[in-house]
Amino acid sequence: MEIPGATETAVPTVERVSAHSHIRGLGLDDKLNAREESQGLVGQKTARKSAGIIVKMIQAGAIAGRGILIAGPPASGKTAIAMAISRELGADIPFTSVSGSEFFSHEFNKTESLTQSMRKSIGLRIQEETELVEGEVVEWVVERPTDGTGDKVGRITLKTTDMEAEYDLGAKMIDAMEADKVTPGDVISIDKASGKVTKLGRSWSKTRDYDAQGPGTRLVETPAGELQKRKHVSHTVNLHEIDVINSRAQGFMALFSGATGEINPEVRQSVDKKVAEWREEGRATIVPGVLFIDEAHMLDIECFSFMNRAMEQSTAPIIIMATNRGENTKIRGTDTVSPHGIPADMLDRMNIIITKPYDAADIQKILQLRADAEGIDSIDEDAMDYLVTIGTETSIRYAMQLLTTAHLVARRDNMEEIQEEHFVKCRDLFLDVRRSEEFCDQWEKELITGNTVDDVEM
Ligand SMILES: Nc1ncnc2c1ncn2[C@@H]1O[C@H](COP(=O)(O)OP(=O)(O)OP(=O)(O)O)[C@@H](O)[C@H]1O
Ligand SMILES: [Mg+2]
Repeated sequence: MEIPGATETAVPTVERVSAHSHIRGLGLDDKLNAREESQGLVGQKTARKSAGIIVKMIQAGAIAGRGILIAGPPASGKTAIAMAISRELGADIPFTSVSGSEFFSHEFNKTESLTQSMRKSIGLRIQEETELVEGEVVEWVVERPTDGTGDKVGRITLKTTDMEAEYDLGAKMIDAMEADKVTPGDVISIDKASGKVTKLGRSWSKTRDYDAQGPGTRLVETPAGELQKRKHVSHTVNLHEIDVINSRAQGFMALFSGATGEINPEVRQSVDKKVAEWREEGRATIVPGVLFIDEAHMLDIECFSFMNRAMEQSTAPIIIMATNRGENTKIRGTDTVSPHGIPADMLDRMNIIITKPYDAADIQKILQLRADAEGIDSIDEDAMDYLVTIGTETSIRYAMQLLTTAHLVARRDNMEEIQEEHFVKCRDLFLDVRRSEEFCDQWEKELITGNTVDDVEM
């Protein structure tokens, strides 16, 4: 559940992750058609296919600055599909997930927090060339200063099948080599810039001389050619991370605490300038990612107009929104009514994907997936039918909650299998929305009602 006005905490994120932990992808075939049940998703085939097309377009970098809206009734899989899109995109394409209400909960203003979310959703892939020394250790020695003070220094002799050379070792490298227990016959690689030592394995040629190999020893060939090599490495960071690192008020430790505060616009300008230079020099490429705004009807008119403009910039992420609001919804901050509570000019920029309510067969499959994800091994067949009926009559989420609680109750009864009685018991313990309404009706007089203090009877 989202709590409007709450400060940003880890709680909603954790809920979101666990509610969708069974989802691993969109479950599509090569032609992007949705399989009936695959990668943790069931049914909702049209929406999944549309989502698959969007994924392909994002991967091709084809729809930067566009918007997608996933609209449909509660619990019809909108958030689930967005999570599946994120899984499909993989770790190299940034995917930021926020709830529309979160923009109102920071200490700083909403355009600042929108800007941060957008910049978190734009990746920068940086290509770097590192210089390595790679070879088999012939010998290495530590020379401790005679007076016992100062840093350790040492020397290492490395060879390839073609050459041999000697290098100086600094104190940090010596520590790393001692920790890794590097001995003659090991094949290692040293990053020249950082001094990082990586043990690649044990040379084949040495294994004939010594039999004392541990069971986990990896055997490798002695490298050929030059000892010094150049290697290309690429890594992706997002623009917000670069902003934070370059913001003197923040420093990069802020990335770990999560409290990054407001970023000075001048910092962003200078970051953008630097990024433009890197792109021109071919050292970096922009990777437009996704900003997913769940509960998009919680955004207000100022957020929408800010986003309209931001989406037109050359480096804008793809915006995916989801909402369960229908036709006659007021746009927050106005008296204007618009479909989904989203202004017409914003809707006009969006590809709209719809999700429909599930039938009993789909509900059963989804509940089964949840049971698997929660480690529930066994549910009696009649009990499952009963749960599906409840899910159809109330909501799929209520049925999921019963699943969790009934599992606990069954375990307390020392039973391996969940029986219908466990669901019945939990159904009595916890109300669904309709019965909670009935309760409110029945106890109307006793419950405290009304929005104003005057209404409250003490
Ligand atoms: N097609 C599906 N396959 C597997 N699991 C699903 C599917 N659709 C929904 N679920 C699961 O059902 C639960 C409810 O779905 P979800 O949260 O995606 O609904 P929603 O459309 O976002 O609802 P709301 O409008 O209330 O936010 C989640 O745990 C979700 O993972
Ligand atoms: Mg949702």
